[in-house]
Amino acid sequence: MFLKPPYKTHLDQLREADPEIAAAIEKEFERQATVLELIPSENIVSGPVLEAMGSVLTNKYSEGYPHKRYYGGNEFIDVIEDIAIERAKKLFGAEHVNVQPYSGSPANMAVYFALLEPGDKLMGMSLAMGGHLTHGHPVNFSGRLYKPVHYGVDKTTELIDYDEVRKLALAEKPKIIVSGATAYPRLFDFKRFAEIAEEVGAYSMADIAHIAGLIAAGVHPSPFPFTDVVTTTTHKTLRGPRGAMIMCKASLAERIDKAVFPGLQGGPHEHAIAGKAVAFAEAAKPEFKEYAKQIVKNARALADELNALGFRLVSGGTDNHLILIDLTPKNVTGKQAEAALDKAHITVNKNMIPFDSRKPFDPSGIRIGTPTLTSRGMQESEMREVARFMDDAVRNWQDDVALEKVKLGVLDLCKRFPFYER
Ligand SMILES: Cc1ncc(COP(=O)(O)O)c(C=O)c1O
Repeated sequence: MFLKPPYKTHLDQLREADPEIAAAIEKEFERQATVLELIPSENIVSGPVLEAMGSVLTNKYSEGYPHKRYYGGNEFIDVIEDIAIERAKKLFGAEHVNVQPYSGSPANMAVYFALLEPGDKLMGMSLAMGGHLTHGHPVNFSGRLYKPVHYGVDKTTELIDYDEVRKLALAEKPKIIVSGATAYPRLFDFKRFAEIAEEVGAYSMADIAHIAGLIAAGVHPSPFPFTDVVTTTTHKTLRGPRGAMIMCKASLAERIDKAVFPGLQGGPHEHAIAGKAVAFAEAAKPEFKEYAKQIVKNARALADELNALGFRLVSGGTDNHLILIDLTPKNVTGKQAEAALDKAHITVNKNMIPFDSRKPFDPSGIRIGTPTLTSRGMQESEMREVARFMDDAVRNWQDDVALEKVKLGVLDLCKRFPFYER
């Protein structure tokens, strides 16, 4: 199931030329190999993706689009970008694709730049309820340049209430409605979002950054063909290089492309675009479908075991790759739990829970996910072990001796599921 990356360390020249940086990279390699990486927005790319990213493509300027460049010498770059676009179109069933956005935030910025004027209303999920900064948070450009209108989740079910979303949209008449999130453990009804947007005359936009791999594999409903614009990062469940892309209806293609270049960006990062093309081909394989199914099965197994161990899970569980845990019943804060888990070599991130009474820097919850551990080949029985390690660490968050004991178990589990070969 796991496309085992034949990673050979390529640091021979670097070790000699710049031992300081080489040593830090090697240490990061060791760190990644010896932790249970539970941050749901992270993953492990394949060896071929790493090779594309570290190639001579990083030397080239290619402002413009395939066959219409502002620089000479782009005949092979055009081949690569054309392939990336065609593969993405096929993988997601998109009419038009722009593979040039540097990352998820610039991709969202390009969509707003293409479709909104400063001061227009932008409706999205609030950060505190699971949305992303770029969905209109006041400290972000999206909340400063545009007028944010936020929906959240229902206080009792902790699920999106689509009737409430519709009511808010009818009352506020936003110009764009963004669906998608960074910390929502349930499925998105993209069709419903698109219908609401159509009813109020707004553009529908889906930000599928977290769940793109699940959508490509058919284990989460797709926002196509009804959503106007879809943005995604390529480095989360999609398991590609750090980067992003924008997919849209053909009717919006010209505006989106112009917003990316020359509107916001200069030269595209063609080494990243080559990495995206490689990842799209990997995601089209039957093994990737199995991988994505296993991500969800693993998240369910982890959630069930955590539930049994007395953790309170926001919305009661998960339908996707991530789990949001309210630590209040465990009498520990998100920050304390994150630090204790770190000592035990379990990497998570502290996170606000819906209607949190605490502050973002020390919230009530943590957010975890299964993409990376699934990439290492772990399955349901290992998820139950992981839950028990987490429980031990959280219960003993102030006891360094106990945390050291948990760490030994974690190291043993990591050894059974090797990271890249060296
Ligand atoms: C839903 C969503 N959109 C956008 C982004 C931004 O991506 P990036 O960190 O690549 O700018 C993220 C990142 O976590 C995300 O979760």
